[in-house]
Formats: sequence, C-alpha cells, structure tokens
Amino acid sequence: MAEQDSKLIHAFGALAELGHEITNKNNFQETIRTSLHLLSGAIGIMRGGVARYSKFAHEFSMMAVRGLGDDFPLSLTLCDEDERQFLTNGLAPIQVSEAHALPFFQVYNVSFERRNLELFVPLVVRDEIVGAIFLGEKATGDSYTKYECEIICAMGRHIGVAIAQRNLMAEIERHANENRKLFDEMRSTYHDTVKAFAAAIDCKDKYTEGHSVRVGKFSEIIAAELGWGSDEVEGVAVAGYLHDVGKLTVERKIINAPYRINAKESAELNKHPAVGYEILLPIHHPFSDVPLAAKYHHERLDGRGYPDGLYDREIPYIAKIVNLADSFDAMTTDRPYKARRPAKDVVEDLCNNAGKQFAPELVTAFLGGMLKELTGEDRNKRFRRLLGREYMEAEGIVDKLTFALNEIAPTTPMTYIAAAPVRERPIH
Ligand SMILES: [Fe+2]
Ligand SMILES: [Fe+2]
Repeated sequence: MAEQDSKLIHAFGALAELGHEITNKNNFQETIRTSLHLLSGAIGIMRGGVARYSKFAHEFSMMAVRGLGDDFPLSLTLCDEDERQFLTNGLAPIQVSEAHALPFFQVYNVSFERRNLELFVPLVVRDEIVGAIFLGEKATGDSYTKYECEIICAMGRHIGVAIAQRNLMAEIERHANENRKLFDEMRSTYHDTVKAFAAAIDCKDKYTEGHSVRVGKFSEIIAAELGWGSDEVEGVAVAGYLHDVGKLTVERKIINAPYRINAKESAELNKHPAVGYEILLPIHHPFSDVPLAAKYHHERLDGRGYPDGLYDREIPYIAKIVNLADSFDAMTTDRPYKARRPAKDVVEDLCNNAGKQFAPELVTAFLGGMLKELTGEDRNKRFRRLLGREYMEAEGIVDKLTFALNEIAPTTPMTYIAAAPVRERPIH
C-alpha cells in the first residue's frame, strides 16, 4: 500500500508539472519533449515517443523520441480504416501485441517489435486525432497495470490538449496572415485607384499637370511633420490626391482658360469642392475624412474661403492640411496668367498668412520639414524631388526659413476664434 501511495504521489506530481509545462508557450517542441520525460519518469518506462498528427497528410510526425533508436520511422502514415478505428477507440492505450488486425500495426510491425513497443495511445481531442504516444516496455519488465494505464490516459489528455491548442493557434495565425495579405492587396488596389483618379483629374488641366499628385505628397509631408501615425499620414495623402476630384465635372475650357476667368466661370469652378464631396461620400474610404477634405479645402481660417466661409475650428483639420498643400502648389508652379514665385517669396507668403488663411502650426510643421531637408538633417529630399533642386537651393532660403519659423506665432485655434470679427457668412 505504501508503495502504491508513493507511486500515486509521484504520478500526481508528474501531472501537475505537465500541466505547468503545457502552458509554456515559448517552445512547443521542448514542451512535448518534457512531457514525454515526465510520463516515462512517472511510470518507469525506458523507451517511447510522442507524435503530432496531420489530418491533411494523414500521418504522425515524431516530435519527441526516447530510446527508440535512429531507425525508428520519423513519420507514420494512417489509412482511413486506421483513422476510423482510432477515433472509435478514443484516448485509451491500445496493446500493440493485440492490434495486428489494423493496417497501421501491420505496416509498422517490424519497427514496433524491434523496439518492444507495448502501448500505443491515440491522442483524440474533441473527436479529432491530434497525435499519439508510443510506449515501450516498463523498466521492471512487468506489464502495465490498469492504474498505470489511467495515469497514461490523464497525461495523454494533457499532451493532446496542448497539441490541439497549438494547432488552433497555427490555424488562427494562418487566417490572420491570409487576412493581412488580403488587406494589403485591397489597400494597394485602393491606392492604385486613388492614383488613377488623381491622374485623371490632372489630365483635365493642362497647365497644372501633376497638381493632385503633388498636393497629395505635400499633404503627406505636413502630416508626417506633425508626427501623425502612418495610417493617418496615408489618409491625408489620399485626401490630397483626391481634393480636386470635383473638377472632373467642370468644363475643360474654364479649367484651362489662359486668362483670369470671369465671375460666372469662377462660380462654376467654385462648385468643385461640393461636387467632389458628393463624388467621394458614397465611397467607402479606409480614412473617413477624405470627402470632408474635398469639400473644405478652399476654406480659410479667417472665414474668407468658400464654399461655406467657415472659421478656424469649424474647418476639418484634414481640409486645413490640404488647403496649405494646395496653396503651396499653386504658388510654386507656373500658371497661364502667373509665373511660379521664387521659394523665398513663397516662404514669406506662408508666414504672413499663418493665422489668416493657414493654421500656424501647419505652416510651422511644413516649413520646419523644408528647413530640415535643406540643412541635411533630413536626407529624404522630398521637396527637392517635387520642386527641383535649383528652385529649393536658391540663395538665402535657409535664412528666410529660419527667420519665418521664429516669426510665426503659435496661435491656437481658440485664441484665433476669440480675436475673430463677428462672423458673416458669404452670400451664395
Ligand atoms: Fe480645389
Ligand atoms: Fe487644387
């Protein structure tokens, strides 16, 4: 009885340790190896192995082996009949010597006999074979008792659950990877579509070729300089690419007029933000503010913009960014009635209009990014690539930028609203 008690305590100890071991998520192979070690130790078994089952390949792959020798097969195949029988048997030890009727034991008979395998335990968890335990004879040479078979079952259940959990994790990971791939593909399709749209918009305007694309890139620079996350930066870039999508419905001759357009034509052109909003609204964008950027990219902080004459905090932030990028591109490209302005003048203009047309912190971020590039702190050459090296490296620009950045007061939207005149909405 005393010997039985100590065996019981030993077995319980091994079970507890096994329970602890299978929660170790770091090294699954190691977990299985330790499990086999604990099981062999608890019963006093010299030889054995634990295998994982692949329901796709219909085979066991040995994950841990002890004393079975190099010639023991590392993978063992099952036929349909074996699978059916093992599932019916469930998680209970099968005496190898009494199982010759099954094809599995006939095929691997030589290997099993050579190693004196006595027990085979199919690890069946939730009606699925997840693995198997192979056990040789006991060190004492005695046959397995009923009590020992129960311990083997209990430990086998632990090991089986550990394998099942691992399989589940692998499946979840696989699904997650597939979803991620799908998401990336959709994202790149979306971006290609956005770029195709931008190119279509730009095509219509022969004088401002590449305008939408540049506004997208300038908007991206501003958001990045503000320290926004990559998703937000991407959203702002998309908003920039699509901000003039409403121009698709404006007559070509108005867009391309080689003179300052008259009031009627101007009214027609000024519909493009609202039209753009209508076009973009029904599209499901990964970034929610894209239609708002199209609608409000001609609004100004001082309420003198259009279409709604909004003031400062009433203007969606993304529209403020696109407005700055849009205005910057208008100033730095040749128009039929107006030549491109020198970089120094543009910097001065942005600085003077900070707090009037533009949000001051956006001008600071944008000009700050420019200064970093020109001083070599930022090696990305984003501005040089978009505006040309000669243009960006004009004499005195670094001093001008430094001066401008010191000049711009960090006006907050709140202080601006407090200083704003009584609000008047323009008559449409
Ligand atoms: Fe516009
Ligand atoms: Fe524009």
